[in-house]
Amino acid sequence: MKVFNDKVSLQKAIAPMRANGTIGFVPTMGALHQGHLALIKQAALENPCTVVSIFVNPTQFNNPNDLEAYPRTLDADVALIKSNIGENVVVFAPTVSEMYDEKLSTEKFNFEGLDQQMEGAFRPGHFDGVGTIVSKLFELVKPDRAYFGEKDFQQLQIIRKLVSLKKMQVEIVGCPIVRTESGLARSSRNQLLSEEERNQASIIYRVLNEVKKRFSGTNIAELKQYVEESFASHTLFRLDYFEITDEATLHPIKEYDKQQNYRAFIAVYAGDVRLIDNMQLN
Ligand code: PAJ
Repeated sequence: MKVFNDKVSLQKAIAPMRANGTIGFVPTMGALHQGHLALIKQAALENPCTVVSIFVNPTQFNNPNDLEAYPRTLDADVALIKSNIGENVVVFAPTVSEMYDEKLSTEKFNFEGLDQQMEGAFRPGHFDGVGTIVSKLFELVKPDRAYFGEKDFQQLQIIRKLVSLKKMQVEIVGCPIVRTESGLARSSRNQLLSEEERNQASIIYRVLNEVKKRFSGTNIAELKQYVEESFASHTLFRLDYFEITDEATLHPIKEYDKQQNYRAFIAVYAGDVRLIDNMQLN
């Protein structure tokens, strides 16, 4: 399997593959798990050439401790791809200076409101950082299809917007959330949890399921109160936000209209580790 650290050799390697058919691309920050592997598997099924990027992007971290603590496990990641997908995948694992100037300049985007709430509101600058790195990677790899998980549903919608704003020729494929047996959404940050936190973190999934069950019969304020109360007395977890939004616009809703699709979004702190999850409601 080929691992490249610089842009020029990556482009040299991809150029001849373009003649053989489509290029599928999976951008990641590494510490790969079953959620990432599902995306890579789908890309490998649908395209003769699959590129995976592994890059912990500094400009999307609003909290320096979070950036420092983020797991970096390149050798294990490469081995995981090799054993689960095969030798055919091209890995791109650049350094920060390969992707950025010294000032770590970011582009400023107008995502037309998609970034005004939830991760956008609670993590200032986060989506400008995501938009900047994904634009750079798309320009470099020039994929025909790029695969993103619904685990980061707001990010997925923002990437779709980015592609339409920049008129990029890439199809964005959304993939379902991969969970552990207990329902915890798989995440690179899960390995930073203590054993007890990991054992109890299924509360997030249970609460989302309960919200889904109650959704059509309960008003939004009561649902929010239910979620707040579920975490209020918890000794391990602290609720950062809970929101129910229209799936397309991501505008928080107050009233329920059967014609629209809605999704519940949650962010929870376990100590310093921040976990996010979401679920389609109707
Ligand atoms: P990262 O958190 O590594 O995630 C890479 C991709 O894997 C994202 O599209 C994410 O939604 C998907 N993913 C993660 N956990 C998943 C799960 N449990 N089920 C399904 N998909 C899952 O998201 C990023 O990196 C970065 O923001 C990035 C897009 C690479 C830009 O830096």
